[in-house]
Amino acid sequence: MMRLIRGGTIVNHDSSRRADVLVRDDAIAAIGTNLEAPAGAETIDAGGCYVLPGGIDPHTHLELTFMGTVTADNFEWGTKAALSGGTTMVVDMCIPVPGQSLLAAYQDWCRKAEGATCDYGFHMSISWWDKQVFDEMETCVKTYGINTFKHFMAYKGALMVNDDQLYNSFMRCAALGAMPIVHAENGDVIWHLQQHYLGKGVHGPEGHAYSRPPSVEGEAANRAIMIAEMAGCPVYIVHTSCREAHEAIARARATGQRVYGEPLVQHLVLDEDEYRHADWDHAARRVMSPPFRSKEHQTSLWAGLQSGSLQVVATDHCAFTTEQKRLGRADFTKIPNGTGGLEDRLPVLWTAGVNTGRITKEEFVAVTSANIARILNVYPKKGAIAVGSDADLVIWDPTASKTISAKKQVSRIDYNVFEGYHCTGLPRATLARGDIAWLDGDLRVRAGAGKYVARDPFPAIHVANAAWHEITAPRAVERAEVTP
Ligand code: URP
Ligand code: ZN
Ligand code: ZN
Repeated sequence: MMRLIRGGTIVNHDSSRRADVLVRDDAIAAIGTNLEAPAGAETIDAGGCYVLPGGIDPHTHLELTFMGTVTADNFEWGTKAALSGGTTMVVDMCIPVPGQSLLAAYQDWCRKAEGATCDYGFHMSISWWDKQVFDEMETCVKTYGINTFKHFMAYKGALMVNDDQLYNSFMRCAALGAMPIVHAENGDVIWHLQQHYLGKGVHGPEGHAYSRPPSVEGEAANRAIMIAEMAGCPVYIVHTSCREAHEAIARARATGQRVYGEPLVQHLVLDEDEYRHADWDHAARRVMSPPFRSKEHQTSLWAGLQSGSLQVVATDHCAFTTEQKRLGRADFTKIPNGTGGLEDRLPVLWTAGVNTGRITKEEFVAVTSANIARILNVYPKKGAIAVGSDADLVIWDPTASKTISAKKQVSRIDYNVFEGYHCTGLPRATLARGDIAWLDGDLRVRAGAGKYVARDPFPAIHVANAAWHEITAPRAVERAEVTP
């Protein structure tokens, strides 16, 4: 199958130019001005539009069992939502329950992902530690093509790992050419603050924000970064939401450490006032960790994207219905943490970022696609419009507009945290490895069409002192006590 995308302006992370794009099967076959349509090729008119590399969302939770319930969007619906918003690849967090084999969790995630409509990869979570985990990390890297391991420094008594486990795992990452990624919040302090506010009679969603102030995030980000420095590995901080965490990242980068920061589009445009809303449902629907912050923190995150100290904008798509949120009606610590955003990331970021002049269209491509493709070692297969790259493409109409409404969304949840937000700049068409997945409001996808994207380990240069990490496997140790 051949498709010629004609008359658009190609935008890559480093340059833009008027050119046509010829797609043969699942890859880009040619780029040039006034390309001839080969016999049998379908022509797609991109006049007046930009042609962007498909978005990559490196942080999703599809069909995740979490806080006593399961996220409403599975791989089929989450990836449909993604494609409708111009995202053509997601990287989901594969999370073994503490004590579960990483390999068994990987098999579970492969089964869940069978319905994916766009390409996907996995990060593997380290939720416990012993010799089995140490050994299985190697299989994840060498056999499964997973070069990133996720660590939760929060969710005490559930997924949280302690410093001993972090250091062991970071050392192992360094030896394997893998990169740790971290949810940076101090779970011990959060637990105490939660008890404090519950004890004072604060049971509503505002207690969620009170018990997770910026300091718990800044402290944990600093700690993770310094542990990474001692272990000699790079580190990627997910959902960077505040100035303190951003500054920890910027400081470390200024010393030459390979540290990456990922703000979410939600934190860039929504603020802490959401938790003061008189309607419990409204506030609870926005409960996620870290919580939305004040405008001062948003300003810092935007500055990070502009200056390059923060590299990626993700969603952490972890969608629960209102009914699920009501599990925490009497106690904010029981409200399932997470919000949606997969289909809104690009339109909201374009509106709030490019249309305001905060970022250029090339920087938009960098933070939604190219940077994460490079960070995850899948560039230029993904994240670029170049001959030989996968034909993951978005025909972006900068003049098209809509007002976000849950009634019209693809995601299976019954609300949208961006409800009423007016976006200008929308995907007119999304191509996923050459197939038209979204065209003029029409979703044309097939469950199972998405392919798993394996990722190679990082080259030695990525890892300072790599030779120093020839550590031997630890003896089997008891799993650390993490319950209060
Ligand atoms: O509140 C959030 N972020 N839910 C998803 C799990 C996580 O912490 O990433
Ligand atoms: Zn998290
Ligand atoms: Zn997450």
